[in-house]
Amino acid sequence: MHARVVEAINHQINSELSASYSYLAMSAWCERQKFTGAARWLRLQSQEEYMHAMKLFDFILARDAEVTLQPLDEPRQSFKSLADVFERALEQEQAVSGQIDALYETAFKEKAFAAVAELQWFLTEQVEEEKTGREIVAKFKLIGNDPASLLDMDRELGSRSAVETGGTGAQ
Ligand SMILES: [Fe+2]
Ligand SMILES: [Fe+2]
Repeated sequence: MHARVVEAINHQINSELSASYSYLAMSAWCERQKFTGAARWLRLQSQEEYMHAMKLFDFILARDAEVTLQPLDEPRQSFKSLADVFERALEQEQAVSGQIDALYETAFKEKAFAAVAELQWFLTEQVEEEKTGREIVAKFKLIGNDPASLLDMDRELGSRSAVETGGTGAQ
C-alpha cells in the first residue's frame, strides 16, 4: 500500500479510538447523573468504536504495513444535559463520516483497491450511525425537560443489546 494510504488509515485508527474514548466519557457523565440506560448505551457505543479501530488495525497488519499509534485527545467530560450528550455524539458521528469520505477518496486516488473495499463497510456504517444519532436527538427535542419522558427515554436507551462483532448494535 502507498505510504499516504497507510498514514491516512493510521490516522483513522486514532479517530475511532478517540470516538471510543469520547463515548466512554459520555457514559461516565450519564452514570453520575443516574441515567444508567444512556450510560449503558454509550458504553456499548464506545466498545463499537474500539472495534472499528481494531478492524483498521487488523487491515493494516494484513497488508503487511506498519501500525502507528498516536496519542488520544482528552475527550469532553462535562455536559449541560442528557440531550446535550447525544447532540455532541451526533456531531462526532458527522465529523467521522467526513473523515471516512476523505480517507476513501485518498485510497481511491492512490488505487489502493483493497483499502477501498475495506472502507466500503465504514461508509455504510456511518450512514447507520448518523441515522441512529439523528433519531435519538429528535426524540430528545420532543421530550424537552419532561422528567417522566426523560426516564422513559433512558430506559429505552438501556434496552440496547450488547455489541455483536461487525454489527452496528443500533436499535
Ligand atoms: Fe466508528
Ligand atoms: Fe461511530
